[in-house]
Amino acid sequence: MKINIAFIGFGTVGRGLGDLLLEKREELARDYGVEYKVVAVSDIKAGSILDERGIDLEEALKLADAGTSLETMPAQKKGLSALDTIKSSGADAFVEVTWTNLTDGEPGYSHIKAALSLGRHVVTTNKGPMALHYRELLRLAQDNGAKLKFKGTVLSGTPAFNLFDGPLAGCSVRSIRGIVNGTTNLILSEMEKGRGYEEVLKEAQRAGYAEADPTMDVEGWDATAKATILANYFYGTDIKPSQVKRKGISSITLDQVIKAKNRGERIKLIARADRTEGGAEVSVSPVALPMADPLANIMGVTNALTFATDCLGDITIVGPGAGRRATGYSLLTDLLSIARG
Ligand SMILES: NC(=O)c1ccc[n+]([C@@H]2O[C@H](COP(=O)([O-])OP(=O)(O)OC[C@H]3O[C@@H](n4cnc5c(N)ncnc54)[C@H](OP(=O)(O)O)[C@@H]3O)[C@@H](O)[C@H]2O)c1
Repeated sequence: MKINIAFIGFGTVGRGLGDLLLEKREELARDYGVEYKVVAVSDIKAGSILDERGIDLEEALKLADAGTSLETMPAQKKGLSALDTIKSSGADAFVEVTWTNLTDGEPGYSHIKAALSLGRHVVTTNKGPMALHYRELLRLAQDNGAKLKFKGTVLSGTPAFNLFDGPLAGCSVRSIRGIVNGTTNLILSEMEKGRGYEEVLKEAQRAGYAEADPTMDVEGWDATAKATILANYFYGTDIKPSQVKRKGISSITLDQVIKAKNRGERIKLIARADRTEGGAEVSVSPVALPMADPLANIMGVTNALTFATDCLGDITIVGPGAGRRATGYSLLTDLLSIARG
C-alpha cells in the first residue's frame, strides 16, 4: 500500500513522526507492505511547502530543528495556509498536530473537518477537536468513507484505545481511572519529598515540563479533555469537557501530601470515567490512594490507566504520556492501521 502524507503542524510531535518515518522506511515496506511519500508540510512557524512528487523529509527535519524556514527548500508550492494545503495537496492522510485549544478546538477542528469532508484520512494528537467535537467528527469521517485516528490524544504512544480493538476485543470496560497528566504527577511526586507546590512548579517550568501558564495542567483541563475522549470512545457517549466535574491540584498543600504519606497514602490527580446506565460519569480530582493501588506507585511524568473490565478484572497499563518520539509513535501506529485497512 502506498500512502501520501501531509503534515498540518510540524512542531515537536510532527517532527517526532518525521524521525520515525525516516528511521523505519525500510521496515515499514518490508514488514508491513507500506510505502509513504510526504507531499506537504504546513506550519505557521516552520513554513509551508507542497510538492506532489514528494518532499525531502530528512532535509525538512534538519531545517525545522535548526529554526530555518522550510520555504528555503525546492517545492512546487510554498506558503500555503493549512486549509489550502488540505484542499490542494492530494494527500491520502493528514497528520493534524497543531496546538490544543479547549475553548473551540480551533484551528485543528477546521483542519480535521476540511480533510474528512474531502474523504481524506486524519491522524491527530490534538485533544481540542477530539474532546469538544468527538461525535460530530467521527460521524463526518464515517459519512465520507474516511478514517479518523487519535490514539496519541491520551497516553501518547502507550496503548489505551486500541488495546480493546485487538488484544482485548470482546472485553467490556466498566470504569477507567488514570494518571493522564505528567506535569501534575511530577509536581505531586516532588512535593512528597517535602518541597512546596510553588517551588516545584517553578522547577517544572524551568525544566520545560510545565508551561509558563500552567493552568491547563494544574487546574485539570488537560486531564479533563483526555477523560472526555476516553469516556466517549469507550462508552459511546457525547460528553463535553464542560460536563466533567473538575478540580486541579493548585490548592493541594505540602501538609496534605505529607499527612497522606504518613497514613500510607499518596495524593494523585485522578481522571475517572465510569459507565452508567445509558451514559457516563466523568471527573478529574486529586484523590488520596492507598499504596496498594497500582496508580499510587506511578511517579514523575509517567502516565497510567486502570481499566475495570468484565472479563479480566482490573488491567493497568503504564507508560509515557508525552514526548517527541513517544507521541510521534502514536501517529505512526495510527497511520499503519489506516494503511493496512
Ligand atoms: N508534545 C507532546 O508530548 C504531546 C503529547 C500528546 C499530545 N500532544 C498534542 O499534540 C499537538 C502538537 O503538539 P506539539 O508538542 O507538537 O506542539 P508544538 O511543538 O507547539 O507544534 C505545533 C505547531 O503547529 C503550528 N501551528 C499552530 N497553528 C497552526 C496553523 N493554523 N496552521 C499551521 N501550523 C500551525 C505551531 O506554530 P506556532 O508555534 O507558531 O503556533 C507549531 O509549530 C498539540 O495539540 C498537543 O496538545 C502533544
